[in-house]
Amino acid sequence: MNLRASFGFGLALLLGVAPGAAVAEEENPFAEYRAMFGDDNPAELVEMQGEELWNTPGGPKQVTLAGCDFGLGAGVIAGAYAQLPRYFADTGKVMDLETRLLHCMETLQGMDVSALRKKPYSDQGQPQTELESLSAYIAAQSRGMPVAVPQTHPLERQAFADGAKFFNLRAGPHDFSCATCHSQNGKRIRLQALPQLNTVEGARTSFGTWPAYRIAQGAVRTIEWRMADCARQQRLPGLVHGSKVAIDLITYLGVQANGAEMTAPGLKR
Ligand code: HEC
Repeated sequence: MNLRASFGFGLALLLGVAPGAAVAEEENPFAEYRAMFGDDNPAELVEMQGEELWNTPGGPKQVTLAGCDFGLGAGVIAGAYAQLPRYFADTGKVMDLETRLLHCMETLQGMDVSALRKKPYSDQGQPQTELESLSAYIAAQSRGMPVAVPQTHPLERQAFADGAKFFNLRAGPHDFSCATCHSQNGKRIRLQALPQLNTVEGARTSFGTWPAYRIAQGAVRTIEWRMADCARQQRLPGLVHGSKVAIDLITYLGVQANGAEMTAPGLKR
């Protein structure tokens, strides 16, 4: 049997555009949850944990992260997340919030972040990692502001171009790319609508909502987690946290979303 054809068939089943794509409210667990919780987002609790961490001296040097520059000056977090990833002259790299946080924990607080780097996300039912709570808190300081991921430095433009390339690169045992699942309008997998992330409109609906509280996991998840989990859905061996590929993809999504309102932390099924 033609392998490619059988994969193609499987993919068509998996990605079938539902003819009447609207899902009845009562079948949608997300809608039920929304009805129960109203406008409350459990992410607020995680934001508060992040705020406490932000204000607490830590690491061997017993200092806070107030000296950390997220691109707008040391300790300035208002609006900083909306402008990340960006180029940092002190490291010579394009960094996102999570890599910048790890960098500051290491250089300012003197922390050994190797364990956090290896395992940046909390297990289900376990306390959120420092990276997750701080991400929720710092992202919330950009709420209501427009996404403005810079494309000034050549490496920022390179990150966007490489992100676009990777988004369309077919790889892995199923020969999927990000675009396989995210480049058509109205696609869904079971109940989940798949945003068309290679368009401005699609990226704008998604980018500003991360980090987000994942109801299914009872935890706040960061945009790096989203990239890693989709790499898993793409059947890739794994996406290293803070890797150039991860940051390039985030830059690709962010730049397309420029101008959209930051609403993070969001709420996801
Ligand atoms: C096999 C299909 C598949 C592939 C390939 C895939 N994704 Fe996804 N993606 C999904 C599904 C399904 C969801 C919704 C997940 C959920 O709600 O649990 C999703 C959600 C997302 C979201 C969040 C949308 C929102 O809710 O804001 C982003 C961003 C994203 N994917 C990016 C990517 C990127 C980047 C890649 C390539 C590395 C990729 N995806 C590859 C299936 C896929």
